[in-house]
Amino acid sequence: MTTGLVVRPAREADLAAMAELTGLAYTEVDRRTFQRDWPDPQPRTPERDAAWERRTAHALRTDPEGCWVAELDGRVVGCAISRVRELMWILSSFAVAPDVQGRGVGTQLLAAALHHGRGCLRGMFAASADPAAVRRYRLAGFTLHPQMFLTGTVDRDALPVVERVREGSAGDIDLMNSVDRQTRGAAHLSDHEALLEQFRLLVCETSSSQGYAYVGAGGSPVLAAATTRRTASDLVWEAFASSSPGSTVSLHHVTAANQWAIDVGLAARLSVHTSGYLCLRGMKPPAPYVHHGSLL
Ligand SMILES: CC(C)(COP(=O)(O)OP(=O)(O)OC[C@H]1O[C@@H](n2cnc3c(N)ncnc32)[C@H](O)[C@@H]1OP(=O)(O)O)[C@@H](O)C(=O)NCCC(=O)NCCS
Repeated sequence: MTTGLVVRPAREADLAAMAELTGLAYTEVDRRTFQRDWPDPQPRTPERDAAWERRTAHALRTDPEGCWVAELDGRVVGCAISRVRELMWILSSFAVAPDVQGRGVGTQLLAAALHHGRGCLRGMFAASADPAAVRRYRLAGFTLHPQMFLTGTVDRDALPVVERVREGSAGDIDLMNSVDRQTRGAAHLSDHEALLEQFRLLVCETSSSQGYAYVGAGGSPVLAAATTRRTASDLVWEAFASSSPGSTVSLHHVTAANQWAIDVGLAARLSVHTSGYLCLRGMKPPAPYVHHGSLL
């Protein structure tokens, strides 16, 4: 127990402090756990900080009871941001300042955020490789599914001809919510608005399948969901095709249930690595599905 510690609901005025704190804590874990042949972890850029703040501001509006900070002597030293979508509880961010870790702060924050999901059937979030975090999650009853990622330069000669993939828009939210329910068991609802603000959307519809993918500026898919592996693969290929020749693309958060994604990455001549875990409760790893790191 840490004397003087207050755990209270997070407010909009805490956003900048929480962004700084999560950026610091995540970079510190990456420095401790990254593999020697990976590039050195870099601090979160101001653009990514701003994106984190926008996503978290959205959670503060939709899930005020799921967002908590820990304050010690007037300083924000930890936060847990969670949201409930249909009957799924999602942990989007969880961090304690490196100099205060290991003193029980994280345990209290996680308990408060978990309380927000007490009526949920399912739970889902992506965990870092931090052994302290992983211990907390398993003790809270989550199953741990190791995540792979693929990264490298796309072999342009390997790009297949992809048909029926089109640009998406807010008009596709119903379609996407339906694919979400079929793949991960709960729709993203208003989180699609937050994703649409930050990423390019690709949609694929055929007579027998539907799917979508959000794609970062460099051509890296950040979320892909479809009702068939073929459609999911087409969406990832289309994203890869949009990368600039010679630039690096990555496909993160691939679980063992999604071998199709590994096959696409390997066919594009990317290399495969492992990092972190998908933590689940009341469900199996979604497929065909590659989750977003914080909106899942
Ligand atoms: C994960 C995190 C939020 C936990 O907060 P915290 O205040 O340090 O957590 P607590 O002190 O309440 O609990 C830490 C637990 O991990 C254990 N632990 C600490 N180091 C460990 C290690 N190397 N291996 C295994 N367990 C470890 C502690 O013993 C404690 O467990 P116990 O209470 O059962 O003894 C914090 O460590 C953090 O910010 N990590 C970096 C960011 C991160 O990875 N966040 C998670 C993203 S998904």
